[in-house]
Amino acid sequence: MDSEGGSNITGGGVSQTPPPPELGGSHHKNYLFRHLLRALLLFTMVSVACLVIFQTSSSGNENLGLKQILKRAAMPDKTVIITTLNEAWIEPNSIFDLFLESFKIGNQTLWLLKHLVVVALDQRAFDHCLKTHLHCYFLTTEGVNFSEEAHFMTPDYLKMMWTRIDFLRIVLERGYNFVFTDADIMWLRNPFPHFYSDTNFQISCDSFGGNPSDLNNAPNGGFNYVKSSNKTIEFYKFWYKSREYYPGKHDQDVLNKIKYDPFVRDIGLGIKFLDTVYFGGFCQPSKDLNLVCTMHANCCAGLDNKIHDLRILLDDWKNYLSLQEDVRKTETPSWSVPQSCG
Ligand SMILES: *[C@@H]1O[C@H](CO)[C@@H](O)[C@H](O)[C@H]1NC(C)=O
Ligand SMILES: *[C@@H]1O[C@H](CO)[C@@H](O)[C@H](O)[C@H]1NC(C)=O
Ligand SMILES: *[C@@H]1O[C@H](CO)[C@@H](O)[C@H](O)[C@H]1NC(C)=O
Repeated sequence: MDSEGGSNITGGGVSQTPPPPELGGSHHKNYLFRHLLRALLLFTMVSVACLVIFQTSSSGNENLGLKQILKRAAMPDKTVIITTLNEAWIEPNSIFDLFLESFKIGNQTLWLLKHLVVVALDQRAFDHCLKTHLHCYFLTTEGVNFSEEAHFMTPDYLKMMWTRIDFLRIVLERGYNFVFTDADIMWLRNPFPHFYSDTNFQISCDSFGGNPSDLNNAPNGGFNYVKSSNKTIEFYKFWYKSREYYPGKHDQDVLNKIKYDPFVRDIGLGIKFLDTVYFGGFCQPSKDLNLVCTMHANCCAGLDNKIHDLRILLDDWKNYLSLQEDVRKTETPSWSVPQSCG
């Protein structure tokens, strides 16, 4: 999963490990051991040499390890924005273009792109990412080909969703906080001022009932803000593990079950749900364009429908920005979508 591959070799340093005492018995054993040690040393040297060559040659095409990518992309407080991408979402004028456009036309959101890590699930998505000069990481999963549009709830779709959860756990373990965002979420304002400061796990909703701490809110896994801590790392392990108890369900459905689990209460995670006024979607649109930060093409089946409505959404936003400030404030403009969605 982690293409870095180097840390085991350089960090482990097999040859530097002193011999365990029980091996140092007879002279014969000692002799064997020295040979073994020499072989291991040679092996390590060759490995390190290969690693150096690999890293040198790959720096040209930016095929960096996760460690370097996170370091380059992170904000000073070690926060990154993460999205996943596969081939189906990179066609011209597709979801990913709209996603990037939103950062450009959003109000003071362009700087956030510097902190975006695109996790590519197939080669074409990875190549496309590199061409767009973003931070790109190629996440491979054994035995799965993510190239084609993974249709909702097929085994490949489920694997893709679960791979994502496991990957995010690794990011947390490396000490990075993240905002995970699906690429069908438009970023129109900086979300950070609207996050809660008293929880390490907050997540958007399909529909928000009014109380951020009410577990009955319906979470949407397409957007969440998670701070690295023992609790969140434990929680991501628990979430990933829980897939075994709910076979055939995706991460969001399982979250909807385990949010009530005593384990979550016992570790003191304190899940909070984000208000759709700021973090809206087609399920429950944020009605006031003066307040919206992000809009998600959720409650929408089919890529074409999503693209159709997201285009209109971005046009709505541009129209809104072109209004006089006093008109924006007094008329509280709203969306003309969903249309094809929902
Ligand atoms: C954009 O952001 C600036 C600075 O925060 C603010 O003064 C301005 O009102 C915002 N414009 C809109 C349309 O939200
Ligand atoms: C994955 O699927 C794509 C499209 O069907 C195909 O072109 C590619 O060769 C496949 N890759 C692997 C590793 O099977
Ligand atoms: C996380 O857990 C480790 C090991 O249990 C402990 O040493 C460390 O202090 C904990 N960190 C925090 C922030 O709680």
